[in-house]
Amino acid sequence: IDGILIANKTYPLPKDYAPGWDPVASEALNVMFAAAKEEGLSLWVCSGYRSYTDQRIIYNGYVARDGKEAADRYSARPGHSEHQTGLAMDVEGHSSLGIGLIDDFGETPEGKWLAANCHEYGFIIRYPKGKTDITGYIYEPWHIRYVGRDAAEEIMQLGVTFEEYIV
Ligand code: DAL
Ligand code: ZN
Repeated sequence: IDGILIANKTYPLPKDYAPGWDPVASEALNVMFAAAKEEGLSLWVCSGYRSYTDQRIIYNGYVARDGKEAADRYSARPGHSEHQTGLAMDVEGHSSLGIGLIDDFGETPEGKWLAANCHEYGFIIRYPKGKTDITGYIYEPWHIRYVGRDAAEEIMQLGVTFEEYIV
């Protein structure tokens, strides 16, 4: 939409769309992690680019464990994941080591730093708290999406979701 790639519950990606990690997003991520490190915070990626097949395996695993209705609240179906764009990453921090990807990450020093600073590097917190009706997913303080610095700054300033921004 207007030159911005969107993947969500409404807009799927082709099955054979397999760009791999986006080099610009990867570089921005490295710069951001280095900046966090300077402030004594350790952040790293636990999941980045995922192919259609990767997502199918992950989603089916969640459905087997929690059922379809529950899985759909926190996991994208194959072809609908932003991870397939190569522009989204799940980030973990030193303080959340071992607790996994849960809400509490947003309350850790690393999670707070990420939310406050990621826009400067072109990233947004893609699934904010209380926006499930709009994004289709529960709060995911660890999932960042590269949109470029201008868009990220604007989204942050407006306080809107990506869905609201692109319409
Ligand atoms: N957890 C996000 C929504 C995904 O599966 O892409
Ligand atoms: Zn994610």
